[in-house]
Amino acid sequence: MTSRLAKIDVPKQWGPFELFQNWMAEFTSITKLPVFLNLATASSDGYVKNRFVELQELANDGILFNTCDNSPKVKQLVRIEGIAERIPGKMEENTFYAEPLYAQIRSVLIKDQSMEVNWDELKNQHDEMLAKVKSGEITLSPPENLVVYKIVPTTFDFYHSGENEIADRVLFTQETSGLWKHCHITA
Ligand SMILES: Cc1cc2nc3c(=O)[nH]c(=O)nc-3n(C[C@H](O)[C@H](O)[C@H](O)COP(=O)(O)O)c2cc1C
Repeated sequence: MTSRLAKIDVPKQWGPFELFQNWMAEFTSITKLPVFLNLATASSDGYVKNRFVELQELANDGILFNTCDNSPKVKQLVRIEGIAERIPGKMEENTFYAEPLYAQIRSVLIKDQSMEVNWDELKNQHDEMLAKVKSGEITLSPPENLVVYKIVPTTFDFYHSGENEIADRVLFTQETSGLWKHCHITA
C-alpha cells in the first residue's frame, strides 16, 4: 500500500486570497452551500469561545461577516489570526438585502442575540411581520444593531488531506511591506 502526498499547489502570483477564493468556489460548486466560518474570540480574562458565522463576502484584504452589535463576539473580538474591524457605512444594507426574507425578518425582530426566547411568541411575531411585508403594509430595512465586521488576516494556514494521503499545509504570512510569502509546513 502506498500513500500519496496531498500537495497544495500554489500557482505563481497567487496570494492567500486567490487560493482561498479557489477553495471556496470548489466547495460551493460541490455542496451548493454557503460558507461558514468558525470564529474564535477571547475575552480579556482569557475565556475562549467558538461559534459559526456565515461568510458574507471575500474582499481583497479581508473576510466579511455580519452579526448583532451587542453580541459577546463583538465585545470579545481581538485577534483571529488577524484583526477584526467593524465596517462602518452601507455594508449592513448590502448584507441585509442579500439575505432571504425569513432571515431579514429575524434580524429585525431580534434585538439581542443569545437571550432566552419564547419560541411560539417569536414565531407569531415572525408570521405577522411576514404577512405585513407580503401585503406591502411595511417594508423592511436593516436594524441599527446589524453590523458588519471584516477579518483582516495576517496569516492563512491551508490544510489539505484525503484518504490515504499525507496531509500538506501551506502557511501564508504577510510581511511588513504588505507582500505575502508562503511555505509548506508539516501537518
Ligand atoms: C450555520 C450557522 C451560521 C451562523 N451564522 C451567523 C452569522 O452569520 N452571524 C451571527 O451573528 N451569528 C450566526 N450564527 C449564530 C452564531 O453561531 C452564534 O450562536 C450567535 O451569533 C451568538 O454568538 P455569541 O453569543 O457568541 O456572540 C450562525 C450559527 C450557525 C449554526
